[in-house]
Amino acid sequence: MAEVTQADLALLAFAREVRNRAYAPYSGFRVGAAVFAGGDIYQGVNVENAAYGSTVCAERAAATAAVTAGKTEFDAIAVVGDSADPTVPCGACRQFLAEFNPHMRVIMGGKGEEVMVRTLDELLPEAFVRAYLDQDDGDDSE
Ligand code: THU
Repeated sequence: MAEVTQADLALLAFAREVRNRAYAPYSGFRVGAAVFAGGDIYQGVNVENAAYGSTVCAERAAATAAVTAGKTEFDAIAVVGDSADPTVPCGACRQFLAEFNPHMRVIMGGKGEEVMVRTLDELLPEAFVRAYLDQDDGDDSE
């Protein structure tokens, strides 16, 4: 568990601000996210779909914006959802984010005042990362 810093609150403000642009006509649950990578900030919102399973979470939207801009190493991500308690990233987003730094800071907020800060490896211990693929020697006879 980590202390909440001024930098955390600044990133959280970007997530809170962009949440207003969430496209959530089905759940009504708006989520905003902001990735901090290489000194820049990349925002994302949840984008729902009539085929519910095609929905994209805010965290993955922000992460893909950062990668599109050429950033593949993230320092932190902030997430703000419509829950009373801080909104935590879903399991799929935790795995998706681990690709870009399993140790990044994750700053979470909700409708209330409470702010929660964790590292990604606290939220997803033993993530499956690229290093496992590198251990495959290509010999399928074993
Ligand atoms: N959602 C996110 O965008 N991020 C999360 O961490 C939790 C869930 C979205 C997906 C869906 O649009 C809505 O919230 C309800 O699940």
